[in-house]
Amino acid sequence: MIQLDDMVKRAKEELDAVKEIRSLDDLKVKYLGKKGELTQILRSMGTLAPEERPAAGKAANETREKMEMMFENALASINAKVADIRIEAEKIDVTVPGTKNDIGKKHPITQVIEEIENIFIGLGYQIAEGPEVESVHYNFDQLNTPEGHPSKDEQDTFYFDPKMLLRTQTSPVQARVMEKTKPPIRIICPGRVYRMDEVDATHSPIFHQVEGLVVDKGITMGNLIATLQLFAKKLFGEDTKIRLRPHYFPFTEPSAEVDVTCWVCHGTGCNVCKGEGFVEILGAGMVHPNVLRNCGIDPDVYSGFAFGLGVERTAMGRYGISDLRLLYENDMRFLSQF
Ligand code: PHE
Repeated sequence: MIQLDDMVKRAKEELDAVKEIRSLDDLKVKYLGKKGELTQILRSMGTLAPEERPAAGKAANETREKMEMMFENALASINAKVADIRIEAEKIDVTVPGTKNDIGKKHPITQVIEEIENIFIGLGYQIAEGPEVESVHYNFDQLNTPEGHPSKDEQDTFYFDPKMLLRTQTSPVQARVMEKTKPPIRIICPGRVYRMDEVDATHSPIFHQVEGLVVDKGITMGNLIATLQLFAKKLFGEDTKIRLRPHYFPFTEPSAEVDVTCWVCHGTGCNVCKGEGFVEILGAGMVHPNVLRNCGIDPDVYSGFAFGLGVERTAMGRYGISDLRLLYENDMRFLSQF
């Protein structure tokens, strides 16, 4: 009995110190296992006098039950402690302000290009694309651009070799499309173009254009003007007017520069339009018969119009941006306004 009591006492002390389930299991083996202390005591009972055995056996069984209970309680309390620790560690403070992820948005140039695309898609146009590294053949020759034209000057344009250059306009896509497509043709082509321009508030050596081309039977200057008028109203507002000024492009005849009502003063004259009431946004004209012929289209059967619009200038007007450089500096304080 003394032995049993002593064992229970020691087990209790050890149990109190246990913090993990694994050491609890070890302890259980030590006391209650097949080779454990209690089993050993039970075995030694064979040496007792026969009249002492029943009492001793009863005491031993009670001790086993008591100890099993002790182990169960210890297990429960360890489990409870582990759960408490986990709950504490995983606690979420719902009152802490969340971390905000900045959602990116489209660059104003992309936004304007998409707006222009949507207007023309609504008119039944398709989107075409061409390479930015372009051949002299498409950038100039197919477009009826004569030797000695200023834009052909090697000093004024980015050449890789005498036959390849960074396209100076999106107009070569006109030729590429006409060579491959039978009229009717109705396309616009947005893209980047390259010019030897100094950077200032309205110029950049890299900028964007949207080219437009329509070829079909009976296309006239009237169709061009109506299309541009409708486009200008959709993009800049219903009170927008367009104005055509005679101009020269090698690949259109007749040619015009096209202005829209100034988006700042709405026509009364201000420093943005330099008192004109109008701002130039595109070049246009009737596709030159030589260009049609170069691309395998019979100018006696078909006619067409083309235009090339400056996207930066349009974006500046659309959003009231005063300096083109702001569009390229990638200052989020500026870009996130649009
Ligand atoms: N490609 C001309 C330019 O860059 C614009 C243009 C396009 C003019 C189509 C007429 C027709 O200035």
